[in-house]
Amino acid sequence: MTTLRDDAPIGVFDSGVGGLSVLRAIRDELPAENLLYVADSGYAPYGDRDADFIADRASTITGLLLDAGVKALVVACNTATVVAIAKLRAWCPVPVVAMEPAIKPAAQTTKSGVVGVLATSQTLASPNVARLCATYGQDIRILLQPCPGLVEQVEKAELRSEATRELLERYLAPLLAAGADTIVLGCTHYPFLAPLIRDIVGAEVAIIDPATAVAKEVARRLGDNRASICAERPVEVRFVSSAGGSGASAIISALWGSRVEVLEIEPQRSCQPTGFGASG
Ligand code: DGL
Repeated sequence: MTTLRDDAPIGVFDSGVGGLSVLRAIRDELPAENLLYVADSGYAPYGDRDADFIADRASTITGLLLDAGVKALVVACNTATVVAIAKLRAWCPVPVVAMEPAIKPAAQTTKSGVVGVLATSQTLASPNVARLCATYGQDIRILLQPCPGLVEQVEKAELRSEATRELLERYLAPLLAAGADTIVLGCTHYPFLAPLIRDIVGAEVAIIDPATAVAKEVARRLGDNRASICAERPVEVRFVSSAGGSGASAIISALWGSRVEVLEIEPQRSCQPTGFGASG
């Protein structure tokens, strides 16, 4: 396993802007770390793609991040995790942290004994989710709810539009009707919809986002390779998007909560673009 300088960035990627929900948690947990985020928005949603395509994108982006000198990799995408994580872990020379729908904490939280899991169809159909349900679902009902269209709404930063509300109401209605008191956000795009989900499900239903647990796992995996706060070195958070066109900066700034510059790479490009090099 490669050990890099402690001020090397942590690389984080997702099919699009959803992984910013994980990046936010990492920034909160590890405020001294430099971060480099890749939104593969030119290819989102991954949920509509076949497994080989997703695995190929995951490898390409991991290669870009390694070329940029990252000291750890966070696959901030449940869909890429279920499809590609075993292959990535086999060759990636830095620690790899990935997503897993928070079915275990949900099983420990529910009082009604009914848990709803919102995720992409790819994620819900995976052996990982089948294994989690078999392990933690023995005494409870776990309802798996695919949510086509939601990733696209978040990619447009439509967090409160009527169309987004209609989709969410449609997906949440059967879960609430079945008595679910705990909802798992099994896609990293969905935490951006948590306020709207809260409006629909009411105050009594628990909404579980694993981002903080993932950030804590990143901290654990870094061990001694953590950055320390240093007045002379400002912390850098850099953003790259394959969206093409010029909308990525506005969308990422809106979701990140402050105005940021986004380096845009061509969607079809799989080599390292100018300016996306190792820092420091
Ligand atoms: N954020 C991704 C996830 O966690 C969305 C996948 C997609 O693009 O379909 O699964």
